Amino acid sequence: MEGSFEKIYELGKVSQRKLVAFGEELGRVLTGGETILLYGEIGAGKTTFVRGLASGLEVPEALVRSPTFNIVNTYPGRLDLIHVDLYRIHCEEEIVDLALEDLLDDNTVMAIEWPEKYSKYVTGNSLQIHIEHVSEEERDVVLMVRDREMDLKLSILNLVSNR
Ligand SMILES: Nc1ncnc2c1ncn2[C@@H]1O[C@H](COP(=O)(O)OP(=O)(O)OP(=O)(O)O)[C@@H](O)[C@H]1O
Ligand SMILES: [Mg+2]
Repeated sequence: MEGSFEKIYELGKVSQRKLVAFGEELGRVLTGGETILLYGEIGAGKTTFVRGLASGLEVPEALVRSPTFNIVNTYPGRLDLIHVDLYRIHCEEEIVDLALEDLLDDNTVMAIEWPEKYSKYVTGNSLQIHIEHVSEEERDVVLMVRDREMDLKLSILNLVSNR
């Protein structure tokens, strides 16, 4: 169904303000059922991005914390935001036990930090965001998309198309 479609968008060097603004823009166009996979080392800006995403989903930003201690936090919004942090997950069984796919429906969006161990289980509409530290203030951001529906959503975002 998804065939071999794959597109890569390089956002280049991005300030914190811009990363949050991108999250917000993306949050506004999501329609439910999407999974956002956030790749990047400690301190890259994954949670920072999720704060922007939350705001675009009309989730009170103050609710968004680093979910490391809970692994999964759900925040209510226009669409509920399920914020997952798999940093402390070490084996396959733990991933399976979380049953993340059961949490996702048409009224939710899932954002996953440290998604390496989960990515093969992702079904449906998803977006990979790779954030890399380039300097104190700047991050290199690359988007990878494998389905057309998500690509269509990205194509209407200012921060993706007008660089
Ligand atoms: N351009 C930028 N984009 C994102 N964060 C930035 C940027 N410049 C500086 N920062 C700072 O980098 C830190 C990013 O922290 P954040 O908690 O978002 O990282 P993380 O990727 O979620 O880390 P962890 O793996 O520990 O959860 C924040 O303190 C933020 O203020
Ligand atoms: Mg984090």
